[in-house]
Amino acid sequence: MDETLARHVMEAAEALRRLLDCEAPEVPSLPRPPPPPPPPPPATVTRQEAVAARQRPAAFAAARDASGTSRGSPVGSIPQFAPAFVDLGDLPEDLEALRAMVASCTRCPLHATRHLPVFGEGRTASPTVMFVGEGPGADEDRTGLPFVGAAGQLLDKMIAAMGLAREECFIGNVVKCRPPGNATPTPDQAGTCVPYLHAQIRALRPRFLVALGATAAHALTGIPDGVARQRGRVQRYGDIPLVVTYHPAALLRNAEYKRPTWADLQLVMARLRSG
Ligand code: URA
Repeated sequence: MDETLARHVMEAAEALRRLLDCEAPEVPSLPRPPPPPPPPPPATVTRQEAVAARQRPAAFAAARDASGTSRGSPVGSIPQFAPAFVDLGDLPEDLEALRAMVASCTRCPLHATRHLPVFGEGRTASPTVMFVGEGPGADEDRTGLPFVGAAGQLLDKMIAAMGLAREECFIGNVVKCRPPGNATPTPDQAGTCVPYLHAQIRALRPRFLVALGATAAHALTGIPDGVARQRGRVQRYGDIPLVVTYHPAALLRNAEYKRPTWADLQLVMARLRSG
């Protein structure tokens, strides 16, 4: 690593440390996160089974605790939302056509209570990182922009601390319309909207994906386990590296998530640095 790059890395790591208020690690060598729990068994369902399962989405409703962590699903790890099982058939490959489609979407009941749909924003040609949240809150619903409320301000700081500019990233969500009361989207709502997310990724071709919270993790990995079981390692979404970490709103509620989130963001930084 040349000197300038090493200095940038050290500055970014220090900024991230200050932001997340953790102990300083050895830089540039990365702190080793605790060994991840054993990965869930690979899904063995067939496409037909997954399609049949999608027709009874209530069976997938995983009980969630206050942190958004799944306490398990009655049907295990069927990748209901995963790209391999989601039909993008009628969705355009062009991002602007997709944006127009989302703007007038009435596919699920959330359209009736939304003020503005939130398509997402940022660099549209191969963004450095695409961050995926759960769904718009009140501020996002009012402005039509993602992550502009309190969680968004923390996300901005996290992006800056990673040494990135918000403009070089793309920020989106699993559902594009606000669930009333900021509720977690139901499996029906998320399942109806998730093809838009997969089509966005197809059009954007981000260098890296970061899933913020359990809903985004489920959408991108297909696995309805909570963040704790999916974070701490680089996974893959097709050929795009993917890291799951806590949602900034969870960090605002629970300081214990700061340290693991920091470790996850450093995994992203390390992988981006290495090419
Ligand atoms: N939380 C999200 O998941 N997305 C937003 O856009 C805002 C808050």
